[in-house]
Amino acid sequence: MIHTSAPGKIIFFGDHAVVYGRPCLSIALAQRLHVYLKPRSDHRIFLEAPDLNPPVPRTEYPFKNRELSKRLDFFERSLRKFESRVSETDRKKGFEITTSSELAPGLGSSSATIVATIAALALHYNLQLGAEELFKMGCELTTEVNAAPSSGCDVATAVYGGFMRYVKDNVPRKLEWIDYPLIAVHTGKKANTAELVTRVHEKRVKYPSIIDGIFDCIGEIVEKAEKVLASARNPEGYQVIGDLMNMQHGLLNSLGVSTDEIEHLIQLSREVSYGSKISGAGGGDYLIALVNPNRLGEFRQKLHGHSIFEIQLSEEGVFSESGQFESHTARRRTPLVPSARVR
Ligand code: PMV
Repeated sequence: MIHTSAPGKIIFFGDHAVVYGRPCLSIALAQRLHVYLKPRSDHRIFLEAPDLNPPVPRTEYPFKNRELSKRLDFFERSLRKFESRVSETDRKKGFEITTSSELAPGLGSSSATIVATIAALALHYNLQLGAEELFKMGCELTTEVNAAPSSGCDVATAVYGGFMRYVKDNVPRKLEWIDYPLIAVHTGKKANTAELVTRVHEKRVKYPSIIDGIFDCIGEIVEKAEKVLASARNPEGYQVIGDLMNMQHGLLNSLGVSTDEIEHLIQLSREVSYGSKISGAGGGDYLIALVNPNRLGEFRQKLHGHSIFEIQLSEEGVFSESGQFESHTARRRTPLVPSARVR
């Protein structure tokens, strides 16, 4: 049995502007997406994804159901990417894939699924894929299946893990994580990333120099945040980060990706935190807040009714949890990606 997993992500700073070449700071989450691949003795292929919304029951590939085929487009495309790299005999080796997710929607589960799946397929076909190849293949697949431009930040975080500074199309640079008291709050609404990224794109077409100016400003905040975060271990440092988060959120709001409901939650959370902002595309999903641990109870009370979790970093990107020869007694965790050096 092959078992791979990849982490979800939260963007700390640089959302949206990262699509247009500005840097972002991204965090790989302790919550992971797992892919189990069981080889078969025949050439049939089955897929089951009980945690997808709606769930995918055990289904044979090629998918006969049109809607399912569209939803699982990435899987068909992944297989096609391997076709040219594996022998005729290997290509006929059947398997069953089952996924299991610790990730709520809005935490980068799509990219984690793509990355963990291609890592499992590479192991199945005995291909040695390095981190950069996984990253490149993952980015190609997300671009092919998404209806909107994307930065590749989700894929980079799923492949490399850790706390990172990422610039589009570049290998990320790992940063030191100092257990920042960062809290994620679910807004209660699912966001449509493609729609929001398209909205920002349209704004940029209409007001190019203004929007580029906003992106520049977001980029400048990212640079400042990176510097401050390297030494922020006390309330004064946290307050500067909180201020930067608030400024960043204001700029994201000016791009048109916030809502009345999000603004209400941001206001509430600011009363009991150093600062807060949207994380990701906006429109729903998660916002993040930097909260004094002594005020966590107050924070929870203020945001009562919303699902909240404390952000825990995963230093590990995509992993083989089992190696090729998992036994029930001895589990081996094999990094598919060597740990990048911490700055
Ligand atoms: O909403 P999410 O978690 O998929 O994040 C999207 C992040 C954007 O910067 C808005 C888009 C991107 O591709 O980086």
